[in-house]
Amino acid sequence: MKNNYLITTPIYYVNARPHLGHIYTTLLCDVMNEYQKLSGKNSFFLTGVDEHGDKIVKAADLENSTPQEYVNKISGIFEETWKSLKISNDDFIRTTQERHKKVVQHVLNKLYEKGDIYLSEYEGTYCLGCERYLTEKELNEDGNCPDHLVKPEIIKESNYFFKLQKYLPIWEKILENNPDLVKPEQYFKEISGTIQELKKLGEDLSISRPVKRLTWGIPIPFDKNYVTYVWFDALLNYISALDFPDGEKFKNYWPQARHVIAKDILKPHGIYWPTMLLAADIEIFQNLFVHGYWLGLNDVKMSKSLQNAVNPVDLINVIGLDSFRYFLMREMTFGSDSKFSESTLENRINQDLANNLGNLIQRTLSMIKKYTDGNIPEKVTNPENEVLDEIIRFSVIRFNDFMNTFQFSKALESIFVIIDKLNKLIEENKPWEMAKKNPSLVPGFLRMLLDGISIVMLNLRPFLRVKFQQYSSITGLHSEINFPLNSNEIKYNVQLPESWDILFPRIILTENEVS
Ligand code: MSP
Repeated sequence: MKNNYLITTPIYYVNARPHLGHIYTTLLCDVMNEYQKLSGKNSFFLTGVDEHGDKIVKAADLENSTPQEYVNKISGIFEETWKSLKISNDDFIRTTQERHKKVVQHVLNKLYEKGDIYLSEYEGTYCLGCERYLTEKELNEDGNCPDHLVKPEIIKESNYFFKLQKYLPIWEKILENNPDLVKPEQYFKEISGTIQELKKLGEDLSISRPVKRLTWGIPIPFDKNYVTYVWFDALLNYISALDFPDGEKFKNYWPQARHVIAKDILKPHGIYWPTMLLAADIEIFQNLFVHGYWLGLNDVKMSKSLQNAVNPVDLINVIGLDSFRYFLMREMTFGSDSKFSESTLENRINQDLANNLGNLIQRTLSMIKKYTDGNIPEKVTNPENEVLDEIIRFSVIRFNDFMNTFQFSKALESIFVIIDKLNKLIEENKPWEMAKKNPSLVPGFLRMLLDGISIVMLNLRPFLRVKFQQYSSITGLHSEINFPLNSNEIKYNVQLPESWDILFPRIILTENEVS
């Protein structure tokens, strides 16, 4: 069981086509999934779409479609996008699927029978964008939702309520005993703070909507006048996709669940979901990993509703999928916001990939071509090698520590320490002079560089899939080496090919190339 790993993205609303924000979370999970697989885990990667709620009905109306036609279309676009970005998800859950509805109704019945759901009246300020009531404290100084920048509606109606208050103290205790459950720490603190606020307010969670206001939802099994509130419906995707309650997937993977979200949906995941799990007698997830926002123009969170979202497909066509993946993973410090701009993208790719890594590879391969006639030299041990080995050992340990906690930016930085050292070794040892003064040392030196590069490329596999394949087909590097890497396992075919394409060319992004 410990060898299993479940990673989930939020299920995205289908009121918009996928934009950079959705793509980032999905790529982040894809990188982690790949990393876990390379580390010998049975990793299951779940993503999907959230198809119910007011927002979807409004979006369908705008296109003159029925909600079902509309969700079929946009869900298809999400699936296609993940295919075109070579995302290797194992399942794609849609909340309109029967398998999902069945589980939502099962859980609702269970909680109702248990007495954890009751009917009551409520008045509050509701943000349609967030699909939830916002407390006064959550509004900005203009009284608007801080994410959607619109005034929430005042809504008063009878609804079914889930006894959130009953489970808050239990959840609080669990958090106290598991300080690593929510990462990074600032979000752990935020959840603890929200628990205090909610306890003070003393309110439970409304989990239904009257059919007279909304029909596009999962019917409440014990009252046909209501449908299920979209968050109560959506959160259950994480177990409906695993065939809860009796499915093998649920038994095998749920105990190893890791959820990845951005901070916009911290409250539903950090409060509603765990209390729902507690009420349903289901084990809490292992971790909740929370990242920040990609900011667009004027440093505002990118989102379809604010019309400031980047269309990444155009960019990827220009710079390639691997470079795009690398940029997003390297640029955002886990937990913090990042600005997206073409100039940071261009600089990052040219600096890190073209100059530092690309030149290192190109120079080393060219020297092997020149000084050993393209034959991969034999490995020799020298003092230089030992210093490098120490740096590699240290960097790789750091890499793995950071990877396991989603700190991909820092993980990548650790690998670039090796790249910098290798570049420095070339500058200091000048193999072109060595070839004149001490030619017998050249092959061993070049082999040391090549092994260093291979370790770099093997570690970068979850980020640079295509480039790694290209590198291993040039060098004949045997690629089926898993994490943790053992440098003795590094083996090559004997000869470099006659020629090869440059792995990391410089990129130029002009206004004309990217719309
Ligand atoms: N349907 C809910 C989630 C239900 S999960 C049980 C939802 N959908 S959403 O389409 O709005 O997606 C929100 C998620 O998309 C964020 O949590 C994040 O993963 C991603 N992002 C959307 N915009 C983003 C940015 N500007 N920056 C980073 N990620 C963002 O909420």
